[in-house]
Amino acid sequence: MNTYIGIDLGTSGAKFLLVAADGTILAENTQTYPVSYPQSGWSEQNPEDWYAAALRGLKELLAGQDKSAVKGISFGGQMHGLVALDAQDNVIRPAILWNDGRTEEETKYLNEVVGKDKLSAWTGNIAFAGFTAPKLLWMKAHEPENFKKIAKIMLPKDYLAYRLSGAFCTDLSDAGGMLLLDVAHRRWSPEMLKVTAMSETQLPKLHESYEVVGMLKPEIADMLGLKDVRIIAGAGDNAAAAVGTGVVGEGGCNISLGTSGTLFVSSAGYNEDKVNALHSFCHADGGWHLMGCILSAASCNAWWSDRILQTQDYAKEQAGLEEELGKNDVYFLPYLMGERSPHNDVTARGAFIGMRPDTTRGQMTLAVLEGVAFALRDCLEAAKRNGAAIARTKLCGGGAKSPLWRKIVANVMDLPVEIPQTEQGPAFGAAMLAMVGCGEYKSVQEAASAIVRVKETVYPDAETAARYEARYRHFTNLYPALKGLF
Ligand code: XUL
Repeated sequence: MNTYIGIDLGTSGAKFLLVAADGTILAENTQTYPVSYPQSGWSEQNPEDWYAAALRGLKELLAGQDKSAVKGISFGGQMHGLVALDAQDNVIRPAILWNDGRTEEETKYLNEVVGKDKLSAWTGNIAFAGFTAPKLLWMKAHEPENFKKIAKIMLPKDYLAYRLSGAFCTDLSDAGGMLLLDVAHRRWSPEMLKVTAMSETQLPKLHESYEVVGMLKPEIADMLGLKDVRIIAGAGDNAAAAVGTGVVGEGGCNISLGTSGTLFVSSAGYNEDKVNALHSFCHADGGWHLMGCILSAASCNAWWSDRILQTQDYAKEQAGLEEELGKNDVYFLPYLMGERSPHNDVTARGAFIGMRPDTTRGQMTLAVLEGVAFALRDCLEAAKRNGAAIARTKLCGGGAKSPLWRKIVANVMDLPVEIPQTEQGPAFGAAMLAMVGCGEYKSVQEAASAIVRVKETVYPDAETAARYEARYRHFTNLYPALKGLF
């Protein structure tokens, strides 16, 4: 049977999956690399680290496997990051990542001087600090020498495709997050190129996510023992995750609890959030989606457990907390890196509220998990205001491994939560895009119905969901009360 490789180029590391055409996972591994925070609110990574991780990950993945069966490689990647290359293909400066908040001024310029109405008409979105266009303006203003050197810009996963195949390309789902794409018409926006002083030759060629962009370079194929392997464009990690959890076509919903948290609603036609709280991007299945993104999700639990409690035994920390669901008086605002949806506030920060002398460690742990779920509920409310009729949701990402967090999400959203067989949404979705690109399935929809399986459904409990409803109403008052004080 043919096999396919999906690579999820994440923030804390890259995940590699070898998947057979029937969806069986044959091998997997994770390679980590550092993030640097050179100033408060900044976040950067070295694209060379991603490429080195890719070579390590691919080598390890293929050890002991039938290499002649491998037909295609594709990607899901952290979105919005600015990778800039000079005319000799050198990386000009470290990549500025999706959760970097340095572009407050440029974001304000785009939204207030260029104007939200125009941005929205040209791209389907307004500016958020993490998007790529404000990063270009920042570089132009603060690093003019670097800006002048730009010969090519691309998104993180596109750098891998470029190094592996030589194809200078991106896909439509990821391109939307640059704020340079006319999302409704699936083409670059001439107006936004003018605003950012970019020419189309500096931008990657646009592809649908399931299209072949090139072949694995012969020298890399030789080194890995592969032959005639196609490289498929891939998708932004959230669109790839939606593919991997079977959220394609009209009206599906996927929630991802990764470093970021997202609520992703798929649609067959173009749809724009009237108040732009949610992003409107192309989907990897040829359609579109609306998405809310919170900047810190599973990363809040990692911060609380690893750094503060100094334990990585998450299961032990969460043991016994089920009794407390819907009864916790402690609240946590999860805005450790500022917040994207719906507040669009780079200055927001995390906060615990409501502790008493008898507050326990367990209640504070619970508050962290609940705070993330409440912030995602804000995104669900925004999706409902846009007319999305969501009856159930898929859940993926590292946080989805926690049975307690699954229950919290089901009850805070008051929705049945379906857990797919693999929580590796983006890497699995990337492998599926490779399958479609290589002709294994006719469409992304066909691949999803053939191989995505749900292993468990977590249902909300009426009494617990009602308690969480009251607590969510209280949560919505906290950010407005603290706004401006962070
Ligand atoms: C989405 C976003 C994040 C990153 C995380 O808009 O910024 O989900 O893609 O990798």
